[in-house]
Amino acid sequence: MTIIIEQPDYGVEVVEQKKLTHEGHENGVEVEEDKELVLDAGFVVVPQPQPQPQPQPNSFVVPQTNSFGHTFRDYEADGERQPGVENFYRTNHIYQCVDFVTKMREEYGKLNRVEMSIWECCELLNNVVDESDPDLDEPQIEHLLQTAEAIRKDYPNEDWLHLTALIHDLGKVLLLPSFGELPQWAVVGDTYPIGCAFDESIVHHKYFALNPDYNNPAYSTKYGMYSEACGLENVLMSWGHDDYMYLVATENGTTLPSAALFIIRYHSFYGMFAKFILIIY
Ligand SMILES: [Fe+2]
Repeated sequence: MTIIIEQPDYGVEVVEQKKLTHEGHENGVEVEEDKELVLDAGFVVVPQPQPQPQPQPNSFVVPQTNSFGHTFRDYEADGERQPGVENFYRTNHIYQCVDFVTKMREEYGKLNRVEMSIWECCELLNNVVDESDPDLDEPQIEHLLQTAEAIRKDYPNEDWLHLTALIHDLGKVLLLPSFGELPQWAVVGDTYPIGCAFDESIVHHKYFALNPDYNNPAYSTKYGMYSEACGLENVLMSWGHDDYMYLVATENGTTLPSAALFIIRYHSFYGMFAKFILIIY
């Protein structure tokens, strides 16, 4: 299945950039060739079992293991972070329900906490540790800068994408006292739709049995409180830093393109990444 992300309002920059850089020929006439915008962050993926090529100067090579010696996003690995990560998802799955998410969106949609610059917010993130991430064990600000620089290397002309990468995790300030000091399970980790049956692909799915929505007939069917093809933008997602940063951006009248807002809002929606191919037009 392919998800097409429409750019109804301000996607002009993305379309124009890719047409300028990819040209081809058709019936002897030079035409502009359409090409997907691939967000691979500058990494060279090395398929196995082929030998690993030597990295070119200034290029990135995907490491095969994370900071703890395990494959990435492996929630079953028997590592030092694993018990904490599983306990994180147990709590997350128990408390992320329609009632909770609705209250959080209402409360944090007021945007009445703190006023600061983007860089001040980046520096604040250095006081944050993401307990849900089985891969990272580095200061958050390093993650922001590495992500932004890797994308800038791949797409030097897509300045909106560099900025998107830099700010994508700023919503994690919800963990700090000045933003309400929310618990980890309400800020980080994979996100997923709320208000319909919890998909079995969601990590540590078994703990949803303790969620108040799990046996609620209004929320436990395939479509739950939605109708078929209602549109992802109308689906309530589990509350966390993604949705919060999306609210911050939109309520402040951001001029970022809708593709950027999609990335900010759904970058922790790993269940979607696992099943679908995204093509951003
Ligand atoms: Fe994130």
